[in-house]
Amino acid sequence: MTSELIENREPPEVGFETFSLLKRAIKCVLVNPLANYLPAGLTKAILRFGKSELAAANWVDPGGWRSMVISYNGQCTQIADKILVKAGTVPTALRNRKRLASHLIADLIDNDGPGSTHVLCLGAGPGQIITEAMVKAKTTSHATLVDLNSDSFDFGLQLANEQGLGDRVHFIQADVCDLHEYLHDQPHIVKMMGICEYLDDEQIVTIARAAADIMPVGAPIIFNSISKSHGTDRFFRRVFGLNMNHRSPDELSELMRRAGFENFIAHREPLGVYHVIVGRRVEAKD
Ligand SMILES: C[S@@+](CC[C@H](N)C(=O)[O-])C[C@H]1O[C@@H](n2cnc3c(N)ncnc32)[C@H](O)[C@@H]1O
Repeated sequence: MTSELIENREPPEVGFETFSLLKRAIKCVLVNPLANYLPAGLTKAILRFGKSELAAANWVDPGGWRSMVISYNGQCTQIADKILVKAGTVPTALRNRKRLASHLIADLIDNDGPGSTHVLCLGAGPGQIITEAMVKAKTTSHATLVDLNSDSFDFGLQLANEQGLGDRVHFIQADVCDLHEYLHDQPHIVKMMGICEYLDDEQIVTIARAAADIMPVGAPIIFNSISKSHGTDRFFRRVFGLNMNHRSPDELSELMRRAGFENFIAHREPLGVYHVIVGRRVEAKD
């Protein structure tokens, strides 16, 4: 069932990073096969010797919020990270995804929000996407950021304070499946970025249903898919211990449909690794 997903092929002007044709060809024939097929022990030893912060963050918590922060910043001191973070396809696509998502959320706050919009962020980490969106939006908003792990909250609050948003963000350490137990302020927008790729199908449906249960009909949910087109899945699994679930926008939207959402529009970042998708809460069917 794919007919209802519309792909928006015109990316907004948000300052994306792209690779030249030559760079893409070199990655395809040389860099990716080397990264994927060099013995994992050797690659790890090289990264350890090169003091890679991205590798160290992933070894502690594969795909966790610290590795996101390093990829988002893109400014590294170690040569290993300059190569991995600055020129790597996934970290570059992650920066594109953050820009695209914050642009779309700012748009939703301005055009869909009731004026003092409440954004609920599931698996939020330190909240870099939502604070960027709140700064971009012209109208007022506040955000609830939920994460199982509270390690990122001090850093997130510091970032929010630096942007004058400290009193508009509220961090909650909890499982997003139990939303009804602690969330009493109805959200107008729900953000589920950077989390579906670490979950199985049933976990996604359970979490999205928990969100749908507390959202008004017509309210948007924003989430992302990831495609294997980055060409380095084998590297991430063997070297970083990062097992991501790759799904097409259609496959992911179908899971969201089961949870009570429809009318999906998928926005592609230019490297084609991520789609950022907006769906709408619909009336429950009998
Ligand atoms: C990769 S980070 C993404 C952070 C942020 N959303 C972003 O895109 O930059 C995923 C986060 O989801 C959180 N998470 C995963 N499952 C969760 C659950 N069931 N409830 C709350 N948080 C969860 C993890 O603790 C982690 O901080």
